[in-house]
Amino acid sequence: MSVPFAAPYNFDAPDSVMLAPGLFVPLDEALRRRADDRKRKPGAKQSHLDLYDYLGWPIVRTGDLVGCSDGTDSKCEQALWLFRRQVSICGRMAAKYGQRCMLLDTNCGPGGFVWEAEFGNRYSRIPIRGTPLQFLRALAKDPSLPNWDVGFIDIQKRHCDELNQRLSDWQHSTRAPLPRTLDVIDGDNEIFAPDWVQQHFSGGERPFGFVVHDANAGIDPVLVHRLGQLPQLERVDFLLYVPAAKFKWHKQDLVELLEPCGKTVWLLGPVRGHWQHLWMVGTRWKSCPDYARINFVRWDSPAGEERWSLITRTRTERAA
Ligand SMILES: C[S@@+](CC[C@H](N)C(=O)[O-])C[C@H]1O[C@@H](n2cnc3c(N)ncnc32)[C@H](O)[C@@H]1O
Repeated sequence: MSVPFAAPYNFDAPDSVMLAPGLFVPLDEALRRRADDRKRKPGAKQSHLDLYDYLGWPIVRTGDLVGCSDGTDSKCEQALWLFRRQVSICGRMAAKYGQRCMLLDTNCGPGGFVWEAEFGNRYSRIPIRGTPLQFLRALAKDPSLPNWDVGFIDIQKRHCDELNQRLSDWQHSTRAPLPRTLDVIDGDNEIFAPDWVQQHFSGGERPFGFVVHDANAGIDPVLVHRLGQLPQLERVDFLLYVPAAKFKWHKQDLVELLEPCGKTVWLLGPVRGHWQHLWMVGTRWKSCPDYARINFVRWDSPAGEERWSLITRTRTERAA
């Protein structure tokens, strides 16, 4: 709805935008129109500033394959807690048992990006550090840093190029030392993830660390099956970001999907949003009391059973 501009200015009226001389529309409507225009003209020429913000980070919008939404920010902050905890424990365990540490992020994305929500604008953009940068933050000051081998994999070349750029910015701005290996691999994780593990660790080695699997569509059964068979990953925990509702609505059994990881204990993080996204940690350690501090619960504890029922059974099934 267009509203005519009239003097004196009415301060109670909603903020307006001038679309043409003398034609003002409420701000939210202008933003909506701009978002619709963007969708209508997919072939329209875009300027660099439409694609990158002033940090030089790519701007990610709904429909982009990073799979971003309004909760991605808090998801990545949760990842930081998890990484901090894992880095400190794994560093100490590896030193005790004379082993190395590893992080393998099988779906790394561009590293850092700027999220613009569907009806957002440049003022509402949120810079988000993805799992790779969060991990480096967690590792930066840890004494075990030189003992870590780190691999990042993504199937999209542009994400790998962006990540390389973010890693180089990170190094220049923090002057932090880098782990002993830092690989960015462009390719399919079903092939490159098991390959990376076997190239870096012999069959007799038992490193400590994390495999991170954060795919838009949920758990990839082929990938977890292949990784679960590697003896090198016996002491490595699995960190999965799971849109749990997708599995129950599609009548897929989450236990069957998790089983090939070969982990006996699953810890569940807080459940978020319509798709019931949550971080899940698969481990072989029977006791993980420190996870309670970051609101993670064992799936077989009373609180965990409640969360487990929520993510594996529909509302009707729970009421029956
Ligand atoms: C949800 S995003 C991951 C975001 C990342 N963890 C972060 O925090 O920024 C999923 C990523 O998986 C990548 N991907 C999808 N299928 C893949 C495959 N088969 N192998 C490797 N990467 C894949 C996509 O290109 C996308 O960047």
